[in-house]
Amino acid sequence: MSLPDDDRFAPDDIEAWRRDGVALVRDFFTPSEVAAVCADFETVFGRSAGGGLPMNRKKGDEIGRFNGAQFKAIEIIPFDCSPALNLIGLHPSLIAFAKAALKTDAVQLYQCQAWAKFTGDADYDQPFHCDFSNHTLTVPSEDAARNSVTILCYFTDVTDAHGAMHYVTRPDSAGVAGPEASLNADPAAQSQLQKGLMRHQRSSASPAGTAIPYSIDVYHRGTNLTAPHGRRYAVMACFKAAGDESIGFTAWAFHHTRPWARLVDHATPEQLACLGVQRPGDPFWTETTLARAQARYPGWDLTAYREAVSR
Ligand SMILES: [Fe+2]
Repeated sequence: MSLPDDDRFAPDDIEAWRRDGVALVRDFFTPSEVAAVCADFETVFGRSAGGGLPMNRKKGDEIGRFNGAQFKAIEIIPFDCSPALNLIGLHPSLIAFAKAALKTDAVQLYQCQAWAKFTGDADYDQPFHCDFSNHTLTVPSEDAARNSVTILCYFTDVTDAHGAMHYVTRPDSAGVAGPEASLNADPAAQSQLQKGLMRHQRSSASPAGTAIPYSIDVYHRGTNLTAPHGRRYAVMACFKAAGDESIGFTAWAFHHTRPWARLVDHATPEQLACLGVQRPGDPFWTETTLARAQARYPGWDLTAYREAVSR
């Protein structure tokens, strides 16, 4: 397929993602999109600044660890806020990037989280790890298009004092270990792996509005927030090829008590298709299912679906 004509990213960004496993795409989101998403973060998380002092649980040159406090301020879509944050993970240009990266015309969003981090709430330092272990029951393919693409989006300026994700490109990590080594529980092997990766680590520090697509086989880690009163607002959007049953994370309907009308009422058929909703023209849509859907979501504009039925 040909690459999409999208002014938010270049063919080189797709190429960098495919080759390195990571790309940094600055100015992906406009300043007004960033401002609207930040306002929604404040509504959802109820605060806009962290504490004055960082939390540091490590001693000496100890490697960062996962701990529950790091994940306390994560929420999945949809949210009780404006359409800005509800739909940012389904931005048409993110969808276009995912289609180009995965070489397919149809993608699904299988994880979408708003993640707020605040100085002092946790020691956010993590060890290097790969995300495949909780996105698939097996292992990553060596063909990036057969896996998925996670797009980490920054909505505040992220410096190394604001918890920039650190990563190792695929060519650099290849000389250290394959992604399967991330699951080795032997402390000595882990320590050696971490030290080996640390020598190649790069920072994703970048301004608000940056999108950072990365692969599930790429070593990366969260880092601590040390800036006084610092905050980091990020959205993670994970896409897979539509119908790929080997990859998953969130079953959207399981979270049916969340305010779905906040998202559905403002989404396009293409955005909803990324959540598994049948497209206009699909035989699922009949006069009966249209009436039932309208009863469930009174504010949903079903015109495109209705027109495709009557044709
Ligand atoms: Fe991760």
